[in-house]
Amino acid sequence: MQLTKQEQKMLDGAEGYAVRKSMEILVALGDIYGAKSLIKVGSVQVAGVSYSNLSDAGLEFLNELAKDGKVKVLTTLNPAGMDLENWRSLGISPEFAEKQNLVIDAFRRMGILVSCTCTPYLIGNLPLFGEHLAWSESSAVTFANSVIGARTNKEGGPSALAAAFVGKTPCYGLHLDENRVPDVHVQVKAELTKLSDWGALGYAIGKKAENKIPYITGIETADLDSLKSFCASVVTYGAKPLFYIKGVTPAACQQKQPKENVIVEQADIKEAYASINDQVSDIELVCVGCPHCSINEIAKVAELLDGKRVAEGTEFWVATSRTAKQLADKHGYTQAIEAAGGKFACDTCMAVAPLKGRFKSLATTSAKGCFYSRQNLMKTKMGSMEECVEAAVTGKWSS
Ligand code: F3S
Repeated sequence: MQLTKQEQKMLDGAEGYAVRKSMEILVALGDIYGAKSLIKVGSVQVAGVSYSNLSDAGLEFLNELAKDGKVKVLTTLNPAGMDLENWRSLGISPEFAEKQNLVIDAFRRMGILVSCTCTPYLIGNLPLFGEHLAWSESSAVTFANSVIGARTNKEGGPSALAAAFVGKTPCYGLHLDENRVPDVHVQVKAELTKLSDWGALGYAIGKKAENKIPYITGIETADLDSLKSFCASVVTYGAKPLFYIKGVTPAACQQKQPKENVIVEQADIKEAYASINDQVSDIELVCVGCPHCSINEIAKVAELLDGKRVAEGTEFWVATSRTAKQLADKHGYTQAIEAAGGKFACDTCMAVAPLKGRFKSLATTSAKGCFYSRQNLMKTKMGSMEECVEAAVTGKWSS
């Protein structure tokens, strides 16, 4: 890879340990993927924040970098393993909390915004069309590439951090026009009536367009929450972190419809639900907010819970960013949800919190949430916000 004089100096250690280490990571990555140069990034989103995934070795690595590392661009964090303020009410142990706080402290010393969300675009890390980024979390990467039209590969935690310290990333993969060309035309001939249908659609397309970039037709409109859910699902179940929807996503009009053609019908949506849903009726945890709830979704939960009470033996979590929760506080949504026995899980989510073995069953609106909760040994049910609130109130899945 061709380095500028300034980049070579950084690699030689002129800006200290963290920048040198970061340059080593970026140059190695660039060489592996055939990048010709580094490219400036507008922002970074760092995943790998939960102590569950990092362990002591990861914490040590972060502390080393934090000694002299300071980020050069706007950098935000993915969810951590716990709510940083109310971890006790979510059943997190003091030992875990102590370690998680050390992780957060290391990131804070690096100058990273402790946003702890997979929806950075909702809390102030909003890229521009065409802007180059180094983001990590797969749903956020897919949203940035597809819904916004920015350009980012799906970075690992260390390569995202390296980009933050250098302000650049190797120019390969989805940064280049030639790798952003759709390769399969997906005709959607199914009706999508509720939020979880978008998760099911993502599942169906992910399976049919495995490792490809879909160009989707047949969808006339989509709101932000539906697209956010679809982004999480389509990439979890197999597609690349980039799609086009004709008439909906901004770069679709610049692309030609590919020759390879697949059709998604109502039967595929039904089949997606059948694969995602397990045989279970008693629900121990209901968690909405994967990706993190928008303020609209929180408002809907508050409305649905009005005058109701979460069942004994069932927990109901609303996973969201602290910023969205602060808005919810101001509008009275928090009080309404908590008065009904619901809990906020800010800064964290069902996939990165240490939940393995704690709950046997989960209900959620999210196909991605089901995928990761199965890894945490839970039986899963996916449905609409209404069905999830109903499950929280009765402790049972009814359909
Ligand atoms: Fe976000 Fe966690 Fe889902 S990171 S997309 S809420 S699995």
